[in-house]
Amino acid sequence: MSLLDPLFRQHLDRLDRRHTRRSLLPVRPEGAGRIRRGGRTLLNFSSNDYLGLAAHPLLVERACAWAQRWGAGSTASRLVCGTLELHAEVEAKLARLKGTEAALLFNSGWQANAAVLPALFDRELLGGDALVFTDRLNHASLHHGCAAAGVRQIRFRHNDLDHLDGLLARHAAEPGTRFIVTESVFSMDGDRADVPALAALAERHGAFLFLDEAHATGVLGPRGMGLAALAGGRADLAMGTFSKALGGFGAYVAGSQALCDYLVNRCGGLIYATALPPAVLGAMDAALDLVPTLDAERARLQAMAERLRAAFHGLGIDTAGSSTQIVPAITGAEEDALSLSRRLEERGILGIAIRPPTVPPGTSRLRFALSAAHTDADLEALTGAVADAWSAR
Ligand SMILES: Cc1ncc(COP(=O)(O)O)c(C=O)c1O
Repeated sequence: MSLLDPLFRQHLDRLDRRHTRRSLLPVRPEGAGRIRRGGRTLLNFSSNDYLGLAAHPLLVERACAWAQRWGAGSTASRLVCGTLELHAEVEAKLARLKGTEAALLFNSGWQANAAVLPALFDRELLGGDALVFTDRLNHASLHHGCAAAGVRQIRFRHNDLDHLDGLLARHAAEPGTRFIVTESVFSMDGDRADVPALAALAERHGAFLFLDEAHATGVLGPRGMGLAALAGGRADLAMGTFSKALGGFGAYVAGSQALCDYLVNRCGGLIYATALPPAVLGAMDAALDLVPTLDAERARLQAMAERLRAAFHGLGIDTAGSSTQIVPAITGAEEDALSLSRRLEERGILGIAIRPPTVPPGTSRLRFALSAAHTDADLEALTGAVADAWSAR
């Protein structure tokens, strides 16, 4: 019993009434694209394992091998004695693939965003204020980074670069360093930012361009290394994760050597956290070897997503601006999303309901995420089940 339990319970009751209470439901992976939950095997359309690498033998073998050879933990933070030669090797491999001078590993994507943004907005660094322009649908970790830095976000309408241009122009006379912070693929809508146009805007307004490539890394861009490459060298910082298409865990920032050296000196989330352990680095290293070779899987993934969107549109389902492996089915109301998700589960499909505050009020949805591990039969099972569940609403 804790002192605040009555308040915790009141809060949870409020969430129950709004259909927005969440809970943790343990699952067990059951091979590619499948999980076991509540005694049943389900086709999993809710994971971010877009290339099916989480269970890939090369990742698992290298994770085991590196743990056996170098131990379970890194024993210290990066700046103390936790920077193993392995960190440096993975960072160098990643920078080569991203085509940047340098790269820096972080313990998670959340941690990277929450910690890197405050380091960038540092008044001592900038010699003044940061003017931070953010997409309205940015991930919670990006909001958290801005909030932690105490900056006011100047939000532009989702993917509306005319609006961004107008806001940049409106604030042109204000002193301060401009930042544009956005995702290259949006996690809940599955649509893409126009990276070349963003880069041109950043150039024109003298803004620092920060791209979150969490859902593009492994899936889009040359050799699957994300969309920042389309910025023609004008993306100042690309962060991404190893936790989604790369099948493992952890995150990165890629950019100039000076940027990475600065973060090593100023970024609390890197300085005051224990470094990633050898097993995680082994899985990262193996994923970086595999990803550039998976063009056929990437093409198949996008073709499946195209088919799924076409099937949904045929059923009158709104898929927002999806043009990637993430395909939402917008229901609007929370209860609808929850009841559809339950009906799909009865039919052997895991399609998790996403509700506010993860998405804006009135845009609850089922978020389907495809994986190269899914078969054509899996996709047909999904479309059939959604057609049944949707018509029974
Ligand atoms: C756009 C975006 N950025 C960052 C993150 C956080 O990454 P991680 O899961 O590695 O902490 C996520 C995770 O869902 C995300 O969707």
